Amino acid sequence: MLLFKSLYYNGQNLSRKDSSFVYLRMDFSELIKLRQSVRQYSDRSVEREKIIACLEAARLAPSANNSQPWKFIVVDEPELKNRVADCTASLGMNKFTYQAPVMVVVVLEKENLFSSLGGKVKDKIFCHYDVGLAIGQFCLQAAELGLGTCIIGWFDEKKIRELLNINRKRRIPLIISLGYSETPVKAKKRKPMDEMSRWNAYN
Ligand SMILES: Cc1cc2nc3c(=O)[nH]c(=O)nc-3n(C[C@H](O)[C@H](O)[C@H](O)COP(=O)(O)O)c2cc1C
Repeated sequence: MLLFKSLYYNGQNLSRKDSSFVYLRMDFSELIKLRQSVRQYSDRSVEREKIIACLEAARLAPSANNSQPWKFIVVDEPELKNRVADCTASLGMNKFTYQAPVMVVVVLEKENLFSSLGGKVKDKIFCHYDVGLAIGQFCLQAAELGLGTCIIGWFDEKKIRELLNINRKRRIPLIISLGYSETPVKAKKRKPMDEMSRWNAYN
């Protein structure tokens, strides 16, 4: 797979000139290590083609009964983007959203009949899983293109709804910040394999 080199690929602080147009071979296992929550962004704006590529990755995500219960609202107009940032920053959380040049507000759309009926029968809310998967694909595609993201769950949903004229019946599960990273790639802190997995039985 040929792809863009990230600004801080493999911990190297590459110059901006080098960062976007050097092609590397990166396989999936490298990509998932490279993707991380980015909370420091450069002021470089994000090319629309790259944002569209991320949207396409989300569009192709799997969902229960292929319901695709999501709408991604890209906010890249600077003043409006800062008003979205206002809705995410409180109690010391998410101040970095003012730095990010793009915020993507993800709206939960009505799932299709089979998905909602199936969910009722099985006592599961499939659309919540669906939207998480789509956002995961968006963020991985962004990482492949040399962009940083942070998934944001802490925000004032009512204010976002008013700001973007979103119907009050619609939930807004998550927002994604997007931009060029100013953060070196860090090692992941995760539970060890023997804690997070089992073979053939729970215990
Ligand atoms: C559902 C969800 C909500 C999150 N909300 C926030 C948030 O509001 N603010 C923030 O800084 N990070 C948020 N994060 C990012 C997590 O803190 C981060 O993914 C986790 O610590 C693992 O780090 P990594 O993404 O760098 O691998 C959220 C992540 C998820 C999946």
